[in-house]
Amino acid sequence: MSTTEQPKIRIFDTTLRDGEQSPGASMNLEEKLTIAAALSDLGVDIIEAGFPIASPGDFEAVEQIAKTIRGPVICGLARCSDQDIDRAWEALKHSHSPRIHVFLATSAIHREFKLKMTADEIVLRAVAGVKRAKRVCDDIEFSPEDAARTEPDFLCRVVEAVIQAGATTVNIPDTVGYATPAHMGRVIHTLKNRVPNIDKAIISIHCHNDLGLAVANSLAAVENGARQVECTINGIGERAGNCSLEEIVMALRTRNDHYGFQTNIVTKRLVPVSRLVSSTTGLDVQRNKAIVGRNAFAHEAGIHQDGMLKEPSTYEIMRPEDVGLVKTDLVLGKHSGRAALSDRAKQLGFDLTGEQLQAVFEEFKRVADRKKEVYDGDIMAIIQSQLHGTLTEHWELSDFAVHLRRGKSPMFQLKLSRAGESHEIELEDGEGPIDAAFLATEKLTGVPMNCREFKINATSLGHDALGEVTLSIEHNGHEYRGRGVSTDCVEASLVAILSAINRIPSVQ
Ligand code: KIV
Ligand code: ZN
Repeated sequence: MSTTEQPKIRIFDTTLRDGEQSPGASMNLEEKLTIAAALSDLGVDIIEAGFPIASPGDFEAVEQIAKTIRGPVICGLARCSDQDIDRAWEALKHSHSPRIHVFLATSAIHREFKLKMTADEIVLRAVAGVKRAKRVCDDIEFSPEDAARTEPDFLCRVVEAVIQAGATTVNIPDTVGYATPAHMGRVIHTLKNRVPNIDKAIISIHCHNDLGLAVANSLAAVENGARQVECTINGIGERAGNCSLEEIVMALRTRNDHYGFQTNIVTKRLVPVSRLVSSTTGLDVQRNKAIVGRNAFAHEAGIHQDGMLKEPSTYEIMRPEDVGLVKTDLVLGKHSGRAALSDRAKQLGFDLTGEQLQAVFEEFKRVADRKKEVYDGDIMAIIQSQLHGTLTEHWELSDFAVHLRRGKSPMFQLKLSRAGESHEIELEDGEGPIDAAFLATEKLTGVPMNCREFKINATSLGHDALGEVTLSIEHNGHEYRGRGVSTDCVEASLVAILSAINRIPSVQ
């Protein structure tokens, strides 16, 4: 069979719903709309835009995405309750292709301890939920939460009943990331063989990555009959995350000889979308992450480099350009103009709006004044920090000075502005300049916080490289991420602290 005639696997992206449940990854409306548009350009079949009843912000995001994004199916999550389903429909009704996704836990452990419901009651509630949703929407997905730990007989019973009630997709979640590939394959095989009306619905798979097996489990499900895979960009999600979209897509494509399926994904958009999600959420992609990590295509060993020069396929199973990775040796400097910067940003995968380009250009000029040569790594870090920061700029850094004395607390002066008003503080406190930066910012903004994570990386080679700070703070039990870039590490830290503070809803 030619590849164009091969059957398709639908890609269901849940970055904006399950992915947003990663600690510190919450996004505002504008950010969600930008990501939804990028997912649509990437070619995903279904966008799960949120959980409308969860909060007014979630509702508005699903509603706006339903109103503006054309192409993919737009999906909203609901528990099996009338209020949830009605609220989901209220947000989704504007879409050309809406889907309501209802879920109810089915495993014995969830039935007994979480829901305190009998098996019979679960079936009745699931059927009632699907029927309620079906009254308003044709496209209904049902998920038996914790399906991977549900008794096979009971799972078959629930799946048959919800298809009978009108579900067009049945999604099989491994909610706690407990399954192994053989186990997941067996679950799907059982459903395919034992549920009499299974051909009336599409089987979907939804795996969490607690054992690092989400992609492998999803592939096993595909081999046994699943035709929709639920996944997130960069694999973000609760705890260890979800099945990573880029990995499952490239596994299906690279091993087409084995799987024999196509997807609608424009793979050249994978790296750009990965970078967009990372900058927006502040969640870094690990260097050695498959497909989109910085080292994914870097060949270090001499013997590999030698082989690559002679024939790339000796050590390369995918071409970097197929996933949107472009290599340039060009260097920008202080005489480079806006057009050159915009062009380079595009090559790096960022299609900047006029306003974003202006912010990035101003920062680029500041950097280029201090640093002769500006490399791709520097440009990417500048863009990522600007995308993370500019959408919600409330507290801004105006100036600072720090005087370090060995064995003594630094003397720190900090000047911030907010809504056109200037605020200043001077203190002599802290274990070093970064600690002092945190203490001064906390005092001046009145926002108490604990630093949960603090990382500093050089964005290129040389001792004049930019320092890129990524951090997360905890405030009132919630985590917020920040990013800052500068040739001065204290300045980068202050910008990162402020970008995290600016994401706290009470600050906005
Ligand atoms: O992991 C899970 O069970 C879910 C469902 C709501 C599909 O995210
Ligand atoms: Zn999930």
